[in-house]
Amino acid sequence: MIRSVRGVHDILPAEAGKWRRVEHAAREVFEAYGYEEIRLPLFERTELFARGIGEATDIVQKEMYTFEDRSGESVTLRPEATAGLLRAYIEHGLHVLPKPVKLYTLGPMFRYERPQAGRYRQFHQLDVEALGDEHAALDAEVIAMLVELFRRLGLADRLTVEVNSLGDEATACRPRYRAELVRYLGANAARLCEECRERAERNPLRVLDCKRPECRPVLDGAPALGAFLCADCTTHFARTREYLDALGVRHLVSPRLVRGLDYYVRTTFELTTTELGAQNAVAGGGRYDGLIKLLGGPPDPGIGFAVGVERVVQLLPDAGPAAAGERRPRVFLVPLGEAALARVLPVATALRARGVVVEVGHGDRKLGRELERAGKLGVSRAVIVGDAELERGEALVKEMQSGAQRPVKLAGLVEELLALGGPA
Ligand code: HAM
Repeated sequence: MIRSVRGVHDILPAEAGKWRRVEHAAREVFEAYGYEEIRLPLFERTELFARGIGEATDIVQKEMYTFEDRSGESVTLRPEATAGLLRAYIEHGLHVLPKPVKLYTLGPMFRYERPQAGRYRQFHQLDVEALGDEHAALDAEVIAMLVELFRRLGLADRLTVEVNSLGDEATACRPRYRAELVRYLGANAARLCEECRERAERNPLRVLDCKRPECRPVLDGAPALGAFLCADCTTHFARTREYLDALGVRHLVSPRLVRGLDYYVRTTFELTTTELGAQNAVAGGGRYDGLIKLLGGPPDPGIGFAVGVERVVQLLPDAGPAAAGERRPRVFLVPLGEAALARVLPVATALRARGVVVEVGHGDRKLGRELERAGKLGVSRAVIVGDAELERGEALVKEMQSGAQRPVKLAGLVEELLALGGPA
């Protein structure tokens, strides 16, 4: 047997209903806030991610599915959606649209990470980006929309909204902080794990994220970014929080929320839960002013987030039997013989065209076995057509629950079945 690739999963029919629920709620909420769907390719030129996500990040250094295509061009399966979406924004000149330009997309992402519960190599994101506006009210609205999605799904009470400000490269508050942090990490290097020591040189802010108990005392004592924010970044963050309060979004300031991608400035945020073990973030995002320019576009600011769909689905309760059997056939047509089969096929087509879920027997099985199958499928009605019925121009309509059956003229069968309706 050939098995699926490690860290890659099938979504079986029993689970697909939950996925549809999440996707449906997301579309409804995002579109109510004025976002439009954009569909993007699953792979891009490698340099887009290297430049966009950052050469020094774990994603670019260790986690990308990169290969040369037959013409020798290096391409990469997208590890996230933001870089590709911005590439499309620039390439198609979407920046001429009224701002903020609000876009969302959904689909699979690929990261060569060590698989564990809640962490996969192919996973799915709902991704949202608002481009061309730097007002703090937009930061708050984006976070409020994310919370609204989880409220719709009945999960908001099980999640914490964590926010932070990372300062800005351009206004120099982050470079000043980074220099201070590097000094501190250097002075305490002996008490840090090897990965932290290596990261301290490559990507110092990410060191703060280390979960190893031996590193925590040093990291908890590290200088906090908040104290280094410049006046503009401080005001922007304070405003964002005021608007969040005005929108009724309870949130927690997490000074150590640093995120794993290099493009963030100012507002960053995550939605976390205590219910999923180590992989506790169901969604994360932030502002990335400067990234569109870095990718060769206009100097437009931007903010967005991505939701990890697998993690959301894991939090959702199992749907009841009614929801699980949402698309269960309502009518089972049982032709007995070739002639009957030919006669009922157009009946099935007509019913299906009107939205009825129909199952058709093949005409070569015994009536008893067909009715047994109808019972297993849980249909409400079986329609039996044998030679005798055909001769009379009739069908036998059998109510599966009561067992009652009566003849109906074949000519009016479709209308009769539609009129009967019955349990969906
Ligand atoms: P991210 O934090 O890397 O951000 O991913 C967002 C979410 O995707 C995570 O919170 C998690 O729920 C899910 N996720 C990430 N990696 C995995 C994995 N290996 N297996 C399962 N789920 C995973 C981004 O990707 C940014 N592009 C978000 C963003 C959009 N920022 C601004 N705009």
